[in-house]
Amino acid sequence: TGAVTFDPGFMNTAPTTSAITFIDGEAGILRHRGYPIEQLAEHSSYLEVAFLLIYGELPTKGQLDQFVHSIEQRTLLDENLKRVFIALPRDAAPMAVLQAGVSALSTFYQDSLDPSDPEQVHISTLRLLAKMPTMAAYAHRVANGQPLMYPDNSLSLVQNFLRLMFAFPVEDFVADPVVVRALEQLFILHADHEQNCSATAVRLVGSAGADLFSSISAGVAALSGPAHGGANTRVMHMLDDLRKSGQDPRVFMEKVKSKDDSTRLMGFGHRVYKNYDPRAKFVKGIADTVLERLGIHDERLELAMKLEEIALRDEYFIERHLYPNIDFYTGIIYKAMGFPTHMFTVLFAIGRLPGWIAQWQEAINDPDTKIMRPRQIYTGEAERAYVPIEERT
Ligand code: CMC
Repeated sequence: TGAVTFDPGFMNTAPTTSAITFIDGEAGILRHRGYPIEQLAEHSSYLEVAFLLIYGELPTKGQLDQFVHSIEQRTLLDENLKRVFIALPRDAAPMAVLQAGVSALSTFYQDSLDPSDPEQVHISTLRLLAKMPTMAAYAHRVANGQPLMYPDNSLSLVQNFLRLMFAFPVEDFVADPVVVRALEQLFILHADHEQNCSATAVRLVGSAGADLFSSISAGVAALSGPAHGGANTRVMHMLDDLRKSGQDPRVFMEKVKSKDDSTRLMGFGHRVYKNYDPRAKFVKGIADTVLERLGIHDERLELAMKLEEIALRDEYFIERHLYPNIDFYTGIIYKAMGFPTHMFTVLFAIGRLPGWIAQWQEAINDPDTKIMRPRQIYTGEAERAYVPIEERT
């Protein structure tokens, strides 16, 4: 079997080649299929970026119209699948509810489970892109004991999602176009990030031949962790605690730097970026636009900017190349839009879905793909003889 390399956290292991996303962490560059993230966030729609990631090229107008239409017509859930949401406890974490919903897709849509059938893969892709926002909104509604409204397929996917989230009790809810565009941009900024923990989970489950829905549910599970997608809620809790306690940000930063304390500055640092996260730069601009449009003054934005200012000048952060990551400012925007904190990671999941699908499809179409089965370095006991229970001490 040859020598096994010890590589905890896969810091130096590339289990795949990929033609989807390019990151230069030293230079702070992120490109999808060659296109810089800034250009996509500026000019594209969420589903256009999804098409690009999954099929490799920007769509023509005709291709995009057809893709969008076939997704926007599939936003409804089977009535019995809706009941799954109602059956779950109200205080369940929305990410756990979302994961249950995504897993359940493989029980309700059994006609699109075969990874070796391109037509079935296509249908399951459309279904996921269409139904994930509906399920995300339902995860929010069950937590509030609110009715699960039907999607309105005359609306765009993002408008529909906002309506499903917020249209009750506000019956005549119409999403603000600035908010719609900002949310769309945030989804685009989250759309893929090469071999992150959740994409790796999706690839790993897919490598065993599991269907797309099951593989994506593993991605949702991985994303829920606080070191990954869960960080965006942690940033908000950190800012809320700081604001409530009135603690001087400088004192808090001393705690972050202290080796006797495990407190981290949430929303800072990244495994790959050792420079400013290009997505974080863009997010800051969106925060300004949305807060201004909605006439919201949020002290947490000032607090976050103060923490960033201190960090960027501090030896501890400079030495370790710690910069704001995408999660640092997103929560402030989501709050301004009306999303409760427990929904932040769910929004990340909607954004990341196209990347997960693209990577899963890339893997199943790659002749080099093998079942992902790493080795280990065994550190347990050498062989020993079984001891009968009455002789054990
Ligand atoms: N605050 C304080 N110190 C930090 C931080 C932070 N946010 N991040 C890293 N460090 C320190 C860490 O203590 C270590 O110091 P030392 O070498 O003295 O022990 C050094 O920097 C390297 O950190 P690491 O944990 O070995 O680096 P990693 O590549 O394993 O971790 C990370 C990356 C993102 C998990 C980590 O930076 C972190 O925990 N950040 C806060 C959580 C966060 O914002 N996560 C979102 C990541 S971006 C979105 C996503 O992908 O989901």
